[in-house]
Amino acid sequence: MRILFIGDIFGASGRGMLSYALPKLKDRHIDFVIANGENVSGGRGLSKAHYKELIANGVQCITMGNHWRDEREIERYIDAASEIVRPLNLIGYHRGVGSKVFDVNGVPVRVTNVLGTAFMPEAVTVPFLALNDLLGTAKEAIHVVDYHAESSSEKHLFAYAFDGKVTAVLGTHTHVATADSRILEKGTAYQTDVGMVGLRDGAIGISKETALDRFVYGRNVSLDGDAFGLCQFCATLLDIDEKTGRARSIERIYMEEDIHG
Ligand SMILES: [Fe+2]
Ligand SMILES: [Fe+2]
Repeated sequence: MRILFIGDIFGASGRGMLSYALPKLKDRHIDFVIANGENVSGGRGLSKAHYKELIANGVQCITMGNHWRDEREIERYIDAASEIVRPLNLIGYHRGVGSKVFDVNGVPVRVTNVLGTAFMPEAVTVPFLALNDLLGTAKEAIHVVDYHAESSSEKHLFAYAFDGKVTAVLGTHTHVATADSRILEKGTAYQTDVGMVGLRDGAIGISKETALDRFVYGRNVSLDGDAFGLCQFCATLLDIDEKTGRARSIERIYMEEDIHG
């Protein structure tokens, strides 16, 4: 089975690039498409209209992250949105689910979204314990974990802790693709960060002009999460042995295009 995991889709450029790039991967025989959707609507959250747009464009599962409910309407529609997986290790009661099993051509595929802790302001339960608890009952052979975290070492350690217990630990949140994709000793596919779909020459999704205005000159300009320009598409393709649930290969995919040109 081949599963494509698409990094954080950011704003209008990200949505445009998704619809440009996915059809170009038709000859890769992809069975299931997962995408991180925490930045889809102006860089923060996922509106209902944009959720529907991603699904219409071929995304079959949407994982989230620390921005999962920045678009507050998600709390009204997430329970009916069977494709969305929000962070598992939130404190308190929240709508939606943090782990879900999808039927992929008759084969169960579990997808889980976990928030990291280092340099992350969100209060969450210990991510290692949260996934460990889940694995007490979750027995699907194929299990892809989106580990949404800032620290590369935390992401590495998380993957080592669950090597051989899940199919893949794929990092999101930094919006910068890392060149360390590989299969760990006991068969778990790993990449510190899958990267981002959106503006290429910006600052993790927003335009560099806006970012410089804020960070260098201290101007209180609003973040232009829907900025246009040359776009990039970052994703990772997993080839998985359906019997064992172990990854046979992990491959980084990158495209760029001036879709607004
Ligand atoms: Fe993100
Ligand atoms: Fe994030």
